[in-house]
Amino acid sequence: MKRDKFMKVSLVKSDFPIFDEYPNLVYLDNAATSQKPHTVIDAVKQFYVKYNANIHRGIYKLSENATQKYENVRSKVAGFIGCDDPKEIIFTKNTNEAINLIVYGWARVNLKKGDIVVLSEMEHHANIVPWIRLKQELGINLYFVPLTSDYGLDYKKILAQGFDLSKIKLVSIAHVSNVLGTINPVSEIVKFLKENKLSVKVCIDAAQSVPHLPIDIRDLDCDFLTFSAHKMLGPSGVGVLWARLKLLESMEPFLAGSHMILKVFRDNVIFADFPDKFEAGTANLEGVVGFGAAIDYLNKLGMQNVFEHDQTLMKYGLQELSGIDGLKLFGLKEAKNRIAIFSFGFEGIHPHDIAQILDEDNIAIRSGHHCAQPLMDSIKQSATARASCYIYNSKEDLDKLVMGLKKVKQTLGI
Ligand SMILES: Cc1ncc(COP(=O)(O)O)c(C=O)c1O
Repeated sequence: MKRDKFMKVSLVKSDFPIFDEYPNLVYLDNAATSQKPHTVIDAVKQFYVKYNANIHRGIYKLSENATQKYENVRSKVAGFIGCDDPKEIIFTKNTNEAINLIVYGWARVNLKKGDIVVLSEMEHHANIVPWIRLKQELGINLYFVPLTSDYGLDYKKILAQGFDLSKIKLVSIAHVSNVLGTINPVSEIVKFLKENKLSVKVCIDAAQSVPHLPIDIRDLDCDFLTFSAHKMLGPSGVGVLWARLKLLESMEPFLAGSHMILKVFRDNVIFADFPDKFEAGTANLEGVVGFGAAIDYLNKLGMQNVFEHDQTLMKYGLQELSGIDGLKLFGLKEAKNRIAIFSFGFEGIHPHDIAQILDEDNIAIRSGHHCAQPLMDSIKQSATARASCYIYNSKEDLDKLVMGLKKVKQTLGI
């Protein structure tokens, strides 16, 4: 799979067996989950064939090899996001679990009644619901940064709310919106918080950014980062929490039980050091190993190339979709600071009808609230249709989407 400087979509696509199975499939639901290349599927299979044993406990070679495979991926993940110390990488089940680990492991211990957590109106439920539970439990307050008129984040409004700014303890926002495709200016926001002497921690839900953009935590300058393997070619059931060492040192485990202990007495327990402390029980071993293969695949393509491919599709998609009469697009109009996620709808037509008619032509998109109901309220929609691209998509896929949407109009007589 040697590719020089730029990606060739036709070559990339041939690495994904689902497109052999369904040659006419136009898969545009990548914000929900990505397809998997042969190398990832093989890595999962090979784990069972050659390495299967439980990790960290066995004294025999098979177990030691399995442990090494698993721990190698921790180092790969660290390298992928610019983290120098693999100990700062905690494997979770997904982004949801990673955020819950922050909420219950860090915030529950460090926040108190009256403290403020800042979220935004464009958050996925994964970055809202655990905070609501903490609000109900501890009496913290939540503030949602509103949208700007062009679907960015009006984050400077934080200063104008009249609340005691020293009460803000955490800002937790999505790097990229799963509905609008907006890329939020994380390092600019962190700089703004520092300039205004807000001594807060910053958590970035990077579920939609790590798959698409080159990410370096040193540039983002955040404190926590969360993402999921399945949205970046890897298996389901594997997620990541990255946190600064100092924060991990101050965190309580979220799940307790086996593997995360140093010593258990009848009435007490000494926890293991992290990362083990935060990884109770047997992990998704084959999934983590498959995730390693996904990272290898993306590294071979080069994340800058992945991003440039996305930007080509984003610009083309915006141009073509804007030309459809009556189609309302939700997201930045300008072709910058956004990725190739397009949310749209026709007045008076339910997005499910759009998705169903497109499916007749094997075009897979998502319709609904996209686990972002507060955002749906902000944009005054109960649901939208969403097409989202990845490395194996081409301009031809977007042409088919446009043709499909014209057919929707014809079929429904609008
Ligand atoms: C921005 C964002 N955050 C969090 C999640 C949750 O990811 P997972 O279901 O893998 O936990 C998603 C999934 O779509 C997402 O788009």
